[in-house]
Amino acid sequence: MMAQSPLSPISPSSILARFQSNGQHTCFHGRHIAPQIYAGLDGTNWRLMDYVARGGYQALRRVLGQLSGSDGGAAMPPEQVIAIVKESSLRGRGGAGFPAGLKWSFMPRQYDGPKYLVCNSDEGEPGTCKDRDILMFNPHIVIEGMIIAAYAMGASVGYNYIHGEIFAAYDRFEEALQQARSAGLLGDRILGSNFCFQLHAAHGFGAYVCGEETALLESLEGKKGQPRYKPPFPASFGLYGKPTTINNTETFAAVPWIIRHGGKAYLECGKPNNGGTKIFSVSGDVTLPGNYEVPMGTPFAKLLELAGGVRPGQSLKAVIPGGSSSPVLPASVIMDCTLDYDSIAKAGSMLGSGAVIVLDDSRCMVKSLQRLCHFYSHESCGQCTPCREGTGWMSKIVDRIENGQGLPEDLALLDSVAENIQGRTICALGDAAVMPVRAMLKHFRHEFDHHVAHKTCVVPAYV
Ligand SMILES: Cc1cc2nc3c(=O)[nH]c(=O)nc-3n(C[C@H](O)[C@H](O)[C@H](O)COP(=O)(O)O)c2cc1C
Ligand code: SF4
Repeated sequence: MMAQSPLSPISPSSILARFQSNGQHTCFHGRHIAPQIYAGLDGTNWRLMDYVARGGYQALRRVLGQLSGSDGGAAMPPEQVIAIVKESSLRGRGGAGFPAGLKWSFMPRQYDGPKYLVCNSDEGEPGTCKDRDILMFNPHIVIEGMIIAAYAMGASVGYNYIHGEIFAAYDRFEEALQQARSAGLLGDRILGSNFCFQLHAAHGFGAYVCGEETALLESLEGKKGQPRYKPPFPASFGLYGKPTTINNTETFAAVPWIIRHGGKAYLECGKPNNGGTKIFSVSGDVTLPGNYEVPMGTPFAKLLELAGGVRPGQSLKAVIPGGSSSPVLPASVIMDCTLDYDSIAKAGSMLGSGAVIVLDDSRCMVKSLQRLCHFYSHESCGQCTPCREGTGWMSKIVDRIENGQGLPEDLALLDSVAENIQGRTICALGDAAVMPVRAMLKHFRHEFDHHVAHKTCVVPAYV
């Protein structure tokens, strides 16, 4: 018999309804600051002709030496494209924030067999919903970014691995690919140049771990989506064992702007070491949840203001700043942060995928952690013992604390299980499961102690 989940169900439609509660879509609210990726979108203007009218594919033309008039010139050498991306300080938007230009330079130039380019649109990190809006409403910006990246790294074939449960985004991307192929922007001799690049969409399978880059590659190859040992890294042994570069959807979407305006201009949009804009998916206890594109280095307080502040009558308690795996930060800490990789890291958390989950003072942190632990236990692929067993144990311990059956020694036990997972697994899912536990115990231990001692919550009600 299936064990019953201890968590009350949250229906996807009720979450979506909250996102749309102000009558606008998640990214058409007009409350972005200096947007580059979501600029000018209204939900209808996603086709090739609309994108071209916004200046789309100009960057590709410039790279291939196909621009006419005074802006024209010879094709850019691939090294120059990589140098511009390095100068821009674009950091990977999938979670780790690894410098994109540096990653591109790892592709072995001398290798004359097939090289692959992969876009990670798996977007499974709880709280993150930015990439699906890019794919739905500006798909050509990703296609253009991928073609330029493929040119820079000499990749001949690319795949966009799209989350298995968002069929509309997959269909939309397929349609955009067809438009690009018909216009000579993909395929053989792109825009009359000698450069050839084939790009395909691929369906994911709805597992969180398939967003981990090597699990994604396994899944793309038609195998069970389980992470590989690293090294070797994908740049030397990737898809079908060939050199491969994987970047997030938003990372590729940033590339056309960088080429058109220059690496320096992109860097100056943000702050040193954190170039450009970033899309934040703001969810939880805010009045206007949604996707917000703002320059890197924007104060957190400004983002909260754009999202309408916390719900009426409540005050801010804490924020999970970069998706469910990033350590929670109390209100007093996050309110002093700016939104960039370095500021959030200094405060003890991670910018991650940019999913900002806001918790107001009505939230019980034990209940919140219970949901997170349940997720990671459910999503562990089971390959390594510390993650497979440890995530289940953490989930059970937090369950019993939440249900009023916690023992005084449970908090030390929880900490010890976390200690024995961290750094001892094949992929980062193990660490991702541990970080929320340790941060909750660090900042909100009194709530756990209260649950154990009094079998109740310190907050009056959980809504
Ligand atoms: C469990 C797990 C899930 C992940 N899910 C995603 C995801 O959904 N999308 C994504 O872009 N990166 C995800 N990543 C990060 C990828 O492994 C990889 O670092 C990223 O796609 C690289 O792109 P970037 O350098 O542009 O950020 C995940 C990592 C882990 C460990
Ligand atoms: S850490 Fe977890 S998800 Fe990652 S390979 Fe090990 S068992 Fe699988």
